[in-house]
Amino acid sequence: MIRSLDAVPGTVDRPLEGKKILLGVSGGIAAYKTPELVRRMRDLGADIRVVMTANAHHFVTPTSLQAVSGQPVRTDLWDHAAEAAMGHIELARWADVLLIAPASADLLARLALGRADDLLTTLRLATRAPVLIAPAMNHVMWLHPATQRNVATLVGDGNTVIPPDSGAQACGETGPGRLPAAETLAAAVLATLQPPRQMLAGRRVLVTAGPTREAIDPVRYVSNHSSGKQGYALARAARRAGANVTLVSGPVTLPEPAGITTIKVTSALDMQRAVQAHATDCDVFIGVAAVADYRPATPADQKIKKLPGRSGELVLTLTENPDIIAGVAALRPRPFVVGFAAETQSALANARDKRLRKGMDLIVVNDVARGDIGFNAAENDVTLIWDAGERHLPKSGKDAISDQIIEQIAALLASESRSTS
Ligand SMILES: Cc1cc2nc3c(=O)[nH]c(=O)nc-3n(C[C@H](O)[C@H](O)[C@H](O)COP(=O)(O)O)c2cc1C
Repeated sequence: MIRSLDAVPGTVDRPLEGKKILLGVSGGIAAYKTPELVRRMRDLGADIRVVMTANAHHFVTPTSLQAVSGQPVRTDLWDHAAEAAMGHIELARWADVLLIAPASADLLARLALGRADDLLTTLRLATRAPVLIAPAMNHVMWLHPATQRNVATLVGDGNTVIPPDSGAQACGETGPGRLPAAETLAAAVLATLQPPRQMLAGRRVLVTAGPTREAIDPVRYVSNHSSGKQGYALARAARRAGANVTLVSGPVTLPEPAGITTIKVTSALDMQRAVQAHATDCDVFIGVAAVADYRPATPADQKIKKLPGRSGELVLTLTENPDIIAGVAALRPRPFVVGFAAETQSALANARDKRLRKGMDLIVVNDVARGDIGFNAAENDVTLIWDAGERHLPKSGKDAISDQIIEQIAALLASESRSTS
């Protein structure tokens, strides 16, 4: 979660005092903003070393970055003088955090592949420090499936990707792809160096994610647009908060998250079986999956043929699927039950009703009619509803939103155990 810079009592002026930040700058137009970023982080107390890709030199000079960082700037893996002073492995060990800003589309691709063909990519593989990546590029490049695939791989590998801001771009167009403000990047570094408290240490959390596929015949199915990104982000956030996490996932293209037991399923009935097998054994159940409400009543054994002479209609009879969340909520004893609602109209009213109807402790609702959040998007904007309160979490990356949802769950669990003890 990106906390505000003055959130740490007693360190209001220099919260990054003594922190060693390795800044990687690649060849994007936003590289011209990095001297200001270095200045801002030094003002906050950080010790900064800068590494540039060869193409970054087209956008900002090493001399500027050397002047503001007060340290030599490195570019070349094969710089003998620099290797004699602080070799690349030493530099990788020195860092408390590696911040790559801006990260070009090309660099994202090289990082996602695990390449080590220049100093910056080599350092990324050689460091044990947390890696923060702030992509910045034209909005069409950012939204390209190849870029989004690389971002998903990098997140799955444990890197934190700071989503770009939306707005007017250097190319004259408008959309997501702007480098966030120096303040936001510095806050992300601070949040990484002070990881969230282990709020769910010792807790077992079961998460469902992604869509389900309901067979019509052996080659066709009924499904929906869920990408699984929000459910995977929540599973990772629960893990970061110290929980032992099991993820039951419908068919998605996301990499399996590190440190989490992932069970792959296809249909709603498969998902129900997997959930039933683990639900009695967990403290928190978070149903994020977009489970199909209905499935074809009698899937055909063989591919349905388009028969000549048949009328222009094929009637498919659907039958209701079990309600997985309500099933978990009906267990005794039962875990703390969290559900999601993607609504297209009267979002809050429908969600309040759905929470009560299904016996959930907490519901997370988003208004997918907006189009810029929810299904398949990198960001979300949600409202949390529980019996004693409601809380709006404004638009933000799915990882940041997930950290806040986990914090709320942990707070409600803590108050629940206080009231029952
Ligand atoms: C004028 C100009 C501006 C560019 N701006 C960006 C940008 O903002 N983001 C980006 O991903 N690529 C941008 N590119 C393309 C990258 O510079 C190019 O992909 C390069 O290979 C990146 O190299 P690097 O990632 O090793 O630094 C730009 C290219 C030019 C010529």
